Amino acid sequence: MEYGLIGEKLGHSYSKIIQEKLLKDYTYEIHPVVKEDLDAFMKAKAFKGINVTIPYKQSVIPYLDEMDEAAKKIGAVNTIVNKDGLLKGYNTDYYGFLYTLDKNNIEIKEKKVLVLGDGGASKAIQAAVLAKQPKQLIITNRTPHENTISLDEVYLNHKDSDIIINTTSVGMYPNVKDSPIDLSKFNRLKAVVDIIYNPLCTKLLLQGKELGIPYVNGLEMLVAQAKYALEHFKGISINDCEIDRIYKELLDSLSQKNL
Ligand code: ATR
Repeated sequence: MEYGLIGEKLGHSYSKIIQEKLLKDYTYEIHPVVKEDLDAFMKAKAFKGINVTIPYKQSVIPYLDEMDEAAKKIGAVNTIVNKDGLLKGYNTDYYGFLYTLDKNNIEIKEKKVLVLGDGGASKAIQAAVLAKQPKQLIITNRTPHENTISLDEVYLNHKDSDIIINTTSVGMYPNVKDSPIDLSKFNRLKAVVDIIYNPLCTKLLLQGKELGIPYVNGLEMLVAQAKYALEHFKGISINDCEIDRIYKELLDSLSQKNL
C-alpha cells in the first residue's frame, strides 16, 4: 500500500471516496489492522502516507520520528508521512475543524463553548476551540475526567453556553434516536456542531434546526481533514474550494440514498 487508512474497523469509511475525489490517478486503500499487527505494520513502514483512525491515533506515536505542533499539543496523530524512512505525524482533524468553524461563520472568540465528550476526537476539537480564544471552554463527559463536569452540572450552571459541539458517538448510525443533550434547556445558543456525519442530520442537529439555531454536521470537517492529509502525503497545495466541491458532491449522493 502506498497511501491509505489504517484502523481497526473500517467498514463504513468514506475516506477512499473522498481521497480519490481530491486527486486524479491516485489510489487510496482502506487497510484494517488488528491490534496484534500494528507493531509489525508500523515497523515495516511499507507506505508513503497513511491516515490513522480509531483506536490507533495515540498508539502510533512511539513509532514516529517527528510530530507537528498540533499533533504534539493534542497527543494524537491522524496522518503519517514516510519521507525516506522517517515518519512524521500530523493531526489534520484539528485543521479540519478550524476550517469548518470558519466556513460556517461560527465565532468562538469570547464565547462560552460546551464540548460534549472527552475522547480522542474531542482532544483535537478542544485544541482548535482554545486556539480561537473562547471566553470559557466547558467539557462534559459520561465518565468523569479531571477536567470534565457532569451533564447535570451543565444543565444547572451552564445554560448560557453559546456554542455546543458534540464529539461523542451518541446519535451515530444505527443509534439515530439518541441525542447527547437537550438543547431546549439552553437560553442563548448561537450554534450547534456535531462531528457525526452518519446520519448527516443527527437527532441533536434536528433539535437545533427546530429551535432555529444554526447547525453544522461532521461531513465538511471530514473532507477538510482529508484534503490537509493529502497535501502532506504529496507535498502539494490543493485549493480550499475543493473541500466545498467534494462536500457538495457527497451531500448529493448521500441525500439520494436518503441518509
Ligand atoms: P473518539 O476518538 O471518536 O473520540 P473515543 O476516544 O472512544 O472515540 O471517545 C468517545 C467519546 O464518546 C467519549 O467521550 C465517550 O465517553 P466515555 O469517556 O464515558 O466513554 C463518549 N461516549 C461514547 N458513547 C457514549 C454514550 N453512550 N453516552 C455518553 N457518552 C458516550
